Amino acid sequence: MTNKELDKKLVVANWKSNGSFAENLALINQLLEAEKAKEFASDLVICPPFVYLQQVAQLLKGSQIKLGAQNISQFGFGAYTGEVSAQMLVDLGVDYVLVGHSERRSLFAETDAISAEKVNGALAFGITPILCLGESLDQRESGKAIEIVLKQLELGINKLSKSEVEKIVLAYEPIWAIGTGKTASAQEAEDMHEKLRSYLKSIDEDMAEKVKILYGGSLNETNVASLFKMPNIDGGLVGGASLDAQKFLFISSLGN
Ligand code: PGA
Repeated sequence: MTNKELDKKLVVANWKSNGSFAENLALINQLLEAEKAKEFASDLVICPPFVYLQQVAQLLKGSQIKLGAQNISQFGFGAYTGEVSAQMLVDLGVDYVLVGHSERRSLFAETDAISAEKVNGALAFGITPILCLGESLDQRESGKAIEIVLKQLELGINKLSKSEVEKIVLAYEPIWAIGTGKTASAQEAEDMHEKLRSYLKSIDEDMAEKVKILYGGSLNETNVASLFKMPNIDGGLVGGASLDAQKFLFISSLGN
């Protein structure tokens, strides 16, 4: 068994543009109760909207659950209306940040080049970027999924040193599976994860073993067991099911 297989799974909640002070309090309290009862087998990260980061940071004080943001500016301080910089996220105690989520790419014109700058910016401030990759249904049906996803990876990490790549997390999220109830089969997901791992191994074997590759896209309590059994699936990025404490706790209870 390799070190990687012994590692815990990483389960990341992407709340997207959902939540309220009252709902967040109720949800986090249920997670904290479960943590006390030692119900998690995985490491957990919660990514609330920016405006709730401070509330969730306060609630998570003393817990092992980490805080993540859903986006980060590629710029520092300055005249960038509406942006939130890496330094500000550090102030809030953020440990992880989603970068290049398909909704950012398709709705907010975030390119591979912008994602790469965000990855660099996060690393420079000690925040772990979770670089999201994935193909559309058309791209999958035309047999281009692997080529497209590996290109996204290449463009996302090409300015990083090996020791920097080692610090990032990848999330493979086929766009056709996000929020649709359709999931990639465990084998389809594993095939892509294996390709991503092989690409990293072509740069450096040791580094490739250290990078966690998460699956996302309608991950839920019914499909998680088969996905998490796969050797190259190191955890999950969970949207819809992360808003339901029971579903999210079930996913987090499976672990390694
Ligand atoms: P979903 O979202 O679990 O609701 O499909 C996943 C994501 O977009 O990160």
